[in-house]
Amino acid sequence: MENSTENLRESEKLLVAKEAVKLVENDDVVGLGSGSTAHFALIELADRIKQGLIVKGVPSSLKTEEQAKALGIPLLPLGEVNKIDISIDGADEFTESLQLVKGGGGALFREKIVASLSKNRIVIVDSSKKVDRLGAFKVPVELAPFACQYVIGQLEALGGQVALRHQERTLFITDNNNYIADVDFGLIDDPVALSTKLNQIDGILVHGLFIGLATKIIMSKDGGLVVFDKS
Ligand code: A5P
Repeated sequence: MENSTENLRESEKLLVAKEAVKLVENDDVVGLGSGSTAHFALIELADRIKQGLIVKGVPSSLKTEEQAKALGIPLLPLGEVNKIDISIDGADEFTESLQLVKGGGGALFREKIVASLSKNRIVIVDSSKKVDRLGAFKVPVELAPFACQYVIGQLEALGGQVALRHQERTLFITDNNNYIADVDFGLIDDPVALSTKLNQIDGILVHGLFIGLATKIIMSKDGGLVVFDKS
């Protein structure tokens, strides 16, 4: 990416992160997303904490946990929380109907649990993430390693082209010690139906179609903000 485009993206991410963190209130339990946009929200939240805001964060990945600790954000472990007031996370793709693809960074399992526990689910994105139809970004699927061949067969039977995710020539291992398959279904006509089918495959722990898991999307565009709210 050229430097000027990269700088623009970074300033867009900062803008949406600031806007989202304004929505956090005193005593909130805050779901902390993963990825480069969510990282800006961590920085903003840490700033507000320094100014006196009292909150507890719930990290959605080991990396976010590490970053939040370094920034001095008090944390609660995900497994001990039964309600989150507000979560702030990024996305890899979204539509105006607030459907998302997530998991580009491999944190989708905990991100989905964080979003599911949250009352207000805020998604922050730069304008490159908006699509008319989901599917240009391959759908990440987290699967149990021992179910790998079975799950690949099932995904292919659904018409997907499957690639197991690698990192530096070895298989990518998630925070939960599982594999990720990136699945190309082409542009997806019916994300709800596909999500239901994926949910039914044994061995799949979670997939990156987030349906009904955003209440507000804050997007930056041309230096301004565009907000999509759940209708
Ligand atoms: C992490 O697994 C993802 O779901 C991220 O939220 C998503 O990839 C967005 O990341 P960026 O903000 O870095 O684009």
